[in-house]
Amino acid sequence: VPLLERDGELGALRRALERAQDGDGVLVALEGPAGIGKTQLLRAAQAEAEEQGVLVMAARGGELEHQFPNGVVRQLVERPLVQATPEERAAALSGPAGVAAAELGLDASAAPGAGGAEAADRSFAVLHGLYWLIANLAADRPVMLAVDDIHWADAPSLRFLHYLARRLEGLPVLIVVTARSGEAGSDPNVLQQLLADPAAESVTPTPLSPGGARELLRSLLGDGVDRAFAAACHGATNGNPFLLRQLADAVRADGLDPTHAAADRIAALGPRTVARSILLRLGHQSDAAARVARALAVLGVQATLRDVAALAGLEPQVAARAADELRGIDVLDGSPDPAFVHPIVRRAIYADIPQADRAGMHARAAEVLLADGAQPRDVAPHLLSADAAGDERVVQTLRAAAERAQREGAPAIAVRFLERALEEPPERALRSDVLHELGRAQLMAGETAAAAESLERSIRVADDPAVRTRRRVPLARALAASEGSAAAIATLEEGIAEAGEIDRELVLRLEAELAAIGVLRDTFSQGLGRRLEQYVDLEGTTAAECLVLANLARHVALNDGTAEEAAALARRALRGNLLVREEGSESIPAHHAMFVLLVCDDAENARASLEAAFNDARERGTVFGLGAVSLTSCFLAYRLGDMMVAESEARAALAAFGGHASYWPIAVSIIVHSLVERGDLDGAEEVLREFDALGTAPDLLSASRLLLARAALAMRRERFDDARADLEEVARREQRWSIRDPEIGWRSLAAQLAWRTGDEPAAQRLAAEQLSISRAWGADSAIGAALRMVGLVGPLDDPSLEAIEQAVGHLERSPARLEHARALVDLGAALRRRGRRTDAREPLRQGVELARSCHALSLAEFGHDELIAAGARPRRLQFSGAESLTASERRVADLAASGLGNREIAQTLFVTIKTVENHLARVYQKLGIRSRDGLSEALGPPKTPA
Ligand SMILES: Nc1ncnc2c1ncn2[C@@H]1O[C@H](COP(=O)(O)OP(=O)(O)OP(=O)(O)O)[C@@H](O)[C@H]1O
Ligand SMILES: [Mg+2]
Repeated sequence: VPLLERDGELGALRRALERAQDGDGVLVALEGPAGIGKTQLLRAAQAEAEEQGVLVMAARGGELEHQFPNGVVRQLVERPLVQATPEERAAALSGPAGVAAAELGLDASAAPGAGGAEAADRSFAVLHGLYWLIANLAADRPVMLAVDDIHWADAPSLRFLHYLARRLEGLPVLIVVTARSGEAGSDPNVLQQLLADPAAESVTPTPLSPGGARELLRSLLGDGVDRAFAAACHGATNGNPFLLRQLADAVRADGLDPTHAAADRIAALGPRTVARSILLRLGHQSDAAARVARALAVLGVQATLRDVAALAGLEPQVAARAADELRGIDVLDGSPDPAFVHPIVRRAIYADIPQADRAGMHARAAEVLLADGAQPRDVAPHLLSADAAGDERVVQTLRAAAERAQREGAPAIAVRFLERALEEPPERALRSDVLHELGRAQLMAGETAAAAESLERSIRVADDPAVRTRRRVPLARALAASEGSAAAIATLEEGIAEAGEIDRELVLRLEAELAAIGVLRDTFSQGLGRRLEQYVDLEGTTAAECLVLANLARHVALNDGTAEEAAALARRALRGNLLVREEGSESIPAHHAMFVLLVCDDAENARASLEAAFNDARERGTVFGLGAVSLTSCFLAYRLGDMMVAESEARAALAAFGGHASYWPIAVSIIVHSLVERGDLDGAEEVLREFDALGTAPDLLSASRLLLARAALAMRRERFDDARADLEEVARREQRWSIRDPEIGWRSLAAQLAWRTGDEPAAQRLAAEQLSISRAWGADSAIGAALRMVGLVGPLDDPSLEAIEQAVGHLERSPARLEHARALVDLGAALRRRGRRTDAREPLRQGVELARSCHALSLAEFGHDELIAAGARPRRLQFSGAESLTASERRVADLAASGLGNREIAQTLFVTIKTVENHLARVYQKLGIRSRDGLSEALGPPKTPA
């Protein structure tokens, strides 16, 4: 039957296809009630696309299938990969796509990445990699992704489609999905976001008109269909084509004449009778047909005839004949693998299986699939519906499936599998392990209280004392997130007491965890300090020792220690890169230690460790590691004063972490700082808005940095009240945690604020306080910055000038180049104001040069004006093309100059190819060149800070 009354809808789909073929991807959502004709439209679009040489990738969701993580994604990509030539396959799986394929088990030749990395990391790598798989496939010809019944898609697949949908610009990819209105879906939020995306186009097929209904009925029941009969049918079905067809089938089965005489009876039939009519029809068929139908309803959308036959208890040939029989009565569709014509049919048949038999059928389905070599992930959903029977194989299957689900970013599914495994129940010796796995899955799914409970139970039933103690680490994390740090600290302290006799490495790991959780709690940090002090002499010869040292270094830095002490501890924590080698580049304590080194002005050692971490992240392909490396790199560049690199690394960190709560405040704060320094105040405001800056600022040290950045911006905007509010909040947090962060140094900014608002005594008091804190800390960069402020807010006398001169002296010796530039410019300005114009020129000149090399344009401009006021005649402060690039443009340009293609650049930066093209176009324009050949020359040598 051709599609009736669908010209409008088909036209919309055709236009979308054309747009995608022209290189700009679109998502079209076909939405409407059951049976309105969404699937038919999707098929029509697929056929048309195929005819035009588009690579069509298709999948459908199934009512019982949302427990298959990435089930829809697998359906989409499996076939094109299998059908590809070896060369096409290699091209499709190049770059990040290979990582995703390995993780999903799509590429037999590649093993999934090494263990250990966080599952959150893997699931992002999968998302990113799948995006590139589609982009790679679309490099040769346009691609269409057709997903039927997306409301039943599993959560990870939905997330991927959403991720892809937001990156369609510049990709010749058409996504068409069908969604039944009113179905909530496995992840209602993501589904709604996907359908509501501004780039998504919604097409809602309308009911057939009375005339259309009549035409449909005639094609099914012959020309005898009269107007009154057709009108009655139209009324009974509201013009829904599926219901019309079912009515026609019922009429035929009952042997009614399609004339007005039957019209009354028709009105009594209605949507509710659909199920009955299907079952009725089935009732007239052979026993084998009924069994095949039921087996298929249990096995689901991806069933093979072999498995259906086995579950139905039939010989394959018998099952094949039965399937044909079902095709004949319009229960199965025409595809070679058995499939129902419509989900409603499956629902009706499934609902008709007596409750008491269903569990048994699912249990048998699991056996059949296992015997057929199916993966645990394909078997486990059946086990959820099967009765518990103490079967060890069931437990193992569920555990294996849970592990996969977690790796694929579906921890909630893993939780269900593991809960079911516990019900089985596992043999006594395994109970503790299964509880532990459940607790970890719950932790990842954000069910922290449940996680704490599972982990506690797991510890209670574990036999091995060392295992019991080790499991206190995840328990402490769950407790910290659910009940608060006191409970977490208590469990760790108990563990330390227990472990005392067992194993020193374990004690150290617990101590390190304790320090990490306890660092910001005022009542605790005193005790913590004492606890940790017993470890100051550790050598750093094992990873656990290094973990403690890293935490100790951070503790000392935040609690009245000196830079020298802190740096010594951090260097030992990072010695020989043991920490990165054994715990990976994503090890947070390792990065804490690098941060400490940077705050202590030891940029050299920090850079060496960072490089080791970068190599590790790249070798293991860990996105989390790369994100962590970018975050530390942005802090390095920020400390060294390179505002351009700082911003671009911060953006890379954001892209990799995708807004992980613990990290984005640092990245955003550095972006804001660097935009402010570069004079782009609007851009800085924009970034703060985009991240809803502090509406959601977590109770973390990193949020203080963000408050400080926002205060600095408010100062530039002369919104003094806003600046004051933020600075007061920073002060409150420091007090609450009883810490003193040598890097944050909010008092200097507060001094400047007081001075600007006319409260000179307060300004001088704050500046003096900061100076004494910085002196106690002892790092040149901190002392220099504090001295500079003392000089700036002091009276116009010699001691003030001296303070600035001393500031220059300290900063010269430190790696803090931007702060150095500030002091030089301020020194020049101070000299000029005292009438020493000639003396003013040299520091001003140096300051302007240094500011330029830091990309601190507003400081350079200020210094330039001062130079003129000092009577110098400097060259016009004209920024070269290279200097006018934004951080993102510069990063893209550098990568392009190093020989990478647009695709590789996009993969490296987690952006789309289109974004890279746009950036490069602007770069060429600013540099006055036509292509990448001219890049290296126009950019000049890469400016890496000393
Ligand atoms: N425009 C049409 N003209 C004639 N028949 C149609 C038309 N649209 C749909 N049908 C028939 O109606 C039936 C239901 O259509 P379809 O399966 O596409 O519905 P659906 O919207 O996908 O429903 P669901 O939400 O349940 O998946 C099909 O058997 C199809 O043959
Ligand atoms: Mg459908």
